[in-house]
Amino acid sequence: MCCAVVAAIIVSGCKAQPATSQPALDAAVQDAAAPDTGATSYLCARYGADAAAAPSYATIQRLFDEQCSSCHTPLASLPLSPGPAWARLVGRAAPAAESCGGTLVAPGNPEASYLYVKLTSDSPCAGTRMPQGEFGPVPLPECVLSLVRRWISAGAPGP
Ligand code: HEC
Repeated sequence: MCCAVVAAIIVSGCKAQPATSQPALDAAVQDAAAPDTGATSYLCARYGADAAAAPSYATIQRLFDEQCSSCHTPLASLPLSPGPAWARLVGRAAPAAESCGGTLVAPGNPEASYLYVKLTSDSPCAGTRMPQGEFGPVPLPECVLSLVRRWISAGAPGP
């Protein structure tokens, strides 16, 4: 897709009349306006590939390591680093500031799991949707949300 756009620019730059048809230009403009599908396909390939009904905890921890633990360090109120993460999540209450959230991971019940609510709701009972980016929440694509949902539904197996 990017190459077609580049080619179109090169071609139109070389000729007095742009060689690209109007529909092709419209398509290129639409591509530019589309959501960041590059990030989505990267995230889906990296985490969504674990299509098992019960994804392994290793995939979940890799998601935490790469998308969460820069903020959720071992010293944070909710650490998501490899050592403490599972034990701090499963069957545990959300940290005091967000006690509105209830249980972070309720095995078998994603909707009752505040971790899942924080990843899927634009208005969780406190704070913002996760993960946060530089300018606000950067919601994960459905393929990754499905991974977390299946892990919790399967009873949130540990490491
Ligand atoms: C850029 C920093 C940042 C990143 C990245 C980030 N978080 Fe957070 N997270 C925060 C902050 C700050 C809070 C407390 C404020 C809030 O809830 O919005 C928080 C709160 C939370 C809470 C509520 C815990 C509580 O205090 O009760 C959960 C659950 C959570 N994050 C999960 C995640 C997950 C899972 C990821 C990765 C997919 C993630 N976060 C990525 C900064 C971050």
